[in-house]
Amino acid sequence: MDNARERVGRLAIYPGTFDPLTNGHVSLIRRGCQIFDNVVVAVAADTPKTPLFSLDERVRMAEEVFAGHPSITVEPFTGLLVDYVERRGANVILRGLRAVSDFEYEFQLALMNRKLKRHIQTVFLMTDYQWLYISSTIIKAAASLGGDIKGLVPENIYRKLREKYGYPYPLGDDIDLGIGGGSGGGEGGPGGMGRGGAAGSAFGAGLGNGGFLPRGMGAGLSAEGDDALRNGCLDPDDEGYGGGTPPMAPTF
Ligand code: COA
Repeated sequence: MDNARERVGRLAIYPGTFDPLTNGHVSLIRRGCQIFDNVVVAVAADTPKTPLFSLDERVRMAEEVFAGHPSITVEPFTGLLVDYVERRGANVILRGLRAVSDFEYEFQLALMNRKLKRHIQTVFLMTDYQWLYISSTIIKAAASLGGDIKGLVPENIYRKLREKYGYPYPLGDDIDLGIGGGSGGGEGGPGGMGRGGAAGSAFGAGLGNGGFLPRGMGAGLSAEGDDALRNGCLDPDDEGYGGGTPPMAPTF
C-alpha cells in the first residue's frame, strides 16, 4: 500500500448530532483513536432531530472536551455525510453500536451511505457496557427535571445542561436519580452498574428487571465488571472503575 493511501486509511470521521456529546461518545472516540491516527468528530447541521443546542453550541462544547488532543478535531458539516467524508479526504465513517435496537438504524444508515459512495466504509465499535443505557435524549430528559446526570457527560456539558434547564451549578439539593455510581463508592461503580454503593446496586438491579436491558442483564453486567476487574483486564483508572462516585469520564 502506498503512503498516501495509508494516511487516508488512518483518518476516521465520527458523525453525529451530539446534542449533546455524552461520555458514551467520548469513550467511543477514545477507542477510535486507538485504531485510527486521527478522528474527526463531525457535528451534523442536517439531522432528522430538533436539537436543544445550536450547531455552534454543540461544536463548541465538543471542542472544549477535546482541547489538547491533537489527533481529535471537531467540526460542523452540512449536507450529505458521504460528501463531507469525501471532501475531508477520508474513507472511513466510525459509528458506535449500543444495543440490538441500534442495529437496524445503523444498518440502514451504513447501507444508504454505501449506496451513495461505495468506496466509503462504515466501521462499528461496540459501546462500552457502562454507557449502554445512555443517549443524549435520556440524559436531556433527566437533566430537564433536575436529575443529577453528573458523570454521564463531560463536566462542561454538565454545566451547560444545568444552565439550559435553569438549575444551579454546582449541584445544590437536587433530586438524586440514583444513577451516579452510588455514594458507597468502592470498586466498580461505572454508571451505577457495578458493585458500588447502594444507588449503584439498585440501578444494576433495575437494569436487570425490565429496565433498559433484558431481564437478568443488569446482574450480568455487574458480575462482568467485577470479574474483569479481578482478572486485571481492565485498567482501574479507566472509564469509571474503582472511582466510586461518580462514574469517571473516559480518559485518553
Ligand atoms: N454511547 C452512548 N450513546 C450513544 C453512543 C455511545 N457510544 N453513540 C450514539 N449514542 C446515542 C446518541 O446520544 C444519540 O442519542 P439520541 O438519539 O437520544 O440523540 C443516538 O445514540 C444516535 O446519535 P448519533 O450517534 O449522534 O447519531 P445521529 O443518529 O444523531 O446522527 C447522522 C445521524 C448525523 C450521522 C445522520 O443524520 C447524517 O449523516 N446526517 C447528515 C445528512 C445525511 O447524510 N443524511 C443521509 C444519511 S443516509
